[in-house]
Amino acid sequence: MSTLLKIRNLSAGLQGRRAITQVVSNVDLDVEAGEILGIVGESGCGKSTMAAAILRLLARPQALQSGSMQLTLEDGETYDLLQMPEKKLRQFRWRRLSYIPQGSMNSLNPVLRVRRQMTDTLVEHGLTKEEALGRAGEVLEQVNLEPRVLDSYPHELSGGMRQRVIIALAVSMRPALVVADELTTALDVVTQRQILQQMAAIRDELGTTFILITHDMGVVAQVADRMAVMYAGRIGEVGSVKDVFASPLHPYSQALIASIPQQSGQRVEGLSGEAPSPWNYPAGCRFHPRCPRVFEPCSEQAPALRPQGSGRWAACHLFEPQFEPQNVSDQ
Ligand SMILES: Nc1ncnc2c1ncn2[C@@H]1O[C@H](COP(=O)(O)OP(=O)(O)OP(=O)(O)O)[C@@H](O)[C@H]1O
Ligand code: SF4
Ligand SMILES: [Mg+2]
Repeated sequence: MSTLLKIRNLSAGLQGRRAITQVVSNVDLDVEAGEILGIVGESGCGKSTMAAAILRLLARPQALQSGSMQLTLEDGETYDLLQMPEKKLRQFRWRRLSYIPQGSMNSLNPVLRVRRQMTDTLVEHGLTKEEALGRAGEVLEQVNLEPRVLDSYPHELSGGMRQRVIIALAVSMRPALVVADELTTALDVVTQRQILQQMAAIRDELGTTFILITHDMGVVAQVADRMAVMYAGRIGEVGSVKDVFASPLHPYSQALIASIPQQSGQRVEGLSGEAPSPWNYPAGCRFHPRCPRVFEPCSEQAPALRPQGSGRWAACHLFEPQFEPQNVSDQ
């Protein structure tokens, strides 16, 4: 697998009158071509800010602070998305990179039929009317919607159908990467499963790479190949879904996995306390006030994301050789 997107040192925040409050800090992440990468974390940890930063669609007061994002396309051409002029970036959106924002299910224009909304978008991106109509039918089929949906107004469709139209639109220009933010939130579990399966089928058929952003570990478990666990604006752990679920390294990943409702319906031990907001991110490891394994260096030094072998990464002092393991509490 080749790397489609190399994100390095990406930081973004909220511009105040005098300073920026950092929301997303120094993110390093590789996205492999053709994978479904889940980014998971509690509400408010900066997932949507990161998604919008990747597409360079941050809206004020959100602002980019630093970083590089190298996109390498199939033809071997490499582009730094953060350096790309806005005009070029506009050409890239939809065609190369596509974004399904959080809450997009309700973003279809209520007074236009689906046909018009889909063909207008496609014509805007260079297809003839005839090609646009053909492509609209094709992509609707890919998300298991009948062509008659083209004649519907959004309010005539269920939430799941509207979300499928949004996915069809997102993949209609055959982008290399789709960033989907909370794609299935607010849908019932059956519809959610169907939509995730269709997403995986699109990846298999078209080779599209997906970054799937969610607060729901179940969604990641169902469909993602790899996952990145985010806490308070930083990445805590990266690895294959199979490995992370089988043996989470980072204490936060361990707590997230432990708090997934078990088959019996009972919740096992979760986390105490609340995730911090960007205005009061703790010093050192941002997880330290809630971490059951906290030890000496944690409140002062921020751990770096380091390789742990077998494609796994973790940002935790427990995995740093310079710290004495006997300092670790055995809780
Ligand atoms: N435009 C904004 N104005 C004020 N605060 C913002 C803005 N955008 C983000 N924030 C704050 O930044 C933090 C991260 O927000 P973000 O939406 O990125 O989190 P998230 O992980 O996507 O959360 P959720 O799971 O609820 O969607 C939150 O504390 C949020 O309140
Ligand atoms: S660095 Fe320390 S506080 Fe942070 S997760 Fe690791 S053990 Fe816990
Ligand atoms: Mg969000």
